[in-house]
Amino acid sequence: MDGKAIRDKVILALDVENKDIAEKYLKLLEDKLSVIKIGSYLYTQEGPDIVKRVHDHGMKVFLDLKFHDIPHTVAKTARIVTSLGVYMFTIHTSGGKEMMRACKESVLKSAEELGVVPPKIVGVTVLSSIDDKILKKELKIGKKRRSYVKILSAFAFYSGLDGVVASGEEIKNIKKILNKDFLLVVPGIRPSWFIEADDQKKALTPKEALALGADYLVIGRPVLKSPDPRHEMDRVYEEILHIK
Ligand code: C5P
Repeated sequence: MDGKAIRDKVILALDVENKDIAEKYLKLLEDKLSVIKIGSYLYTQEGPDIVKRVHDHGMKVFLDLKFHDIPHTVAKTARIVTSLGVYMFTIHTSGGKEMMRACKESVLKSAEELGVVPPKIVGVTVLSSIDDKILKKELKIGKKRRSYVKILSAFAFYSGLDGVVASGEEIKNIKKILNKDFLLVVPGIRPSWFIEADDQKKALTPKEALALGADYLVIGRPVLKSPDPRHEMDRVYEEILHIK
């Protein structure tokens, strides 16, 4: 993989409080990244203007607002997302097949009408905070997390979504059953030099995640918390470049 190909695979989760802090990182890292993830609290604070700001720095937007509603509402929202020119966005697969299909149809129709590239739709299966016990006791779902993630991923694939968000331990399982072009977006990435007391055991290094078949790596705090984020990005890329 060359430098550009690697840079396109690493997404920075810009989980910061407001546009001023966001702007600082965008300026600092605009030549180091292709895609920026905007999550719910930055978006709720700043609105669509934050998407425009990222575009103004020549970067693409992964809008991670995890839409989950009736098909009609998600379809209407998907049209607005498409008009914002985002590269990729998330919806919950547990909203059901009809919701996913309505979202996909709306994206394709809106993109054609607006003359823009259709954004990729990525499904969220089971949040990493939901374990087997919560699935069974609270949500009354009679499946283990692992197999439920596989079922929802298959529904996402057959409903026309472009990929799913997957944790490290789920990548292999999903790649095995679904088409190779179905994208796996993997958060919880921890470079080998970044070890934090509260880190989940599920975390993978960039190198491990790519070797397992991840298409995009999402990394936030290791870069945002660093006193030298540019240097941290270089170290992430260096680690990936040495994949045999
Ligand atoms: O932990 P970090 O700051 O690198 O997380 C980056 C992004 O990945 C966050 O926006 C978070 O929502 C997401 N994430 C996730 N599942 C995890 C860990 C992080 O979806 N297990």
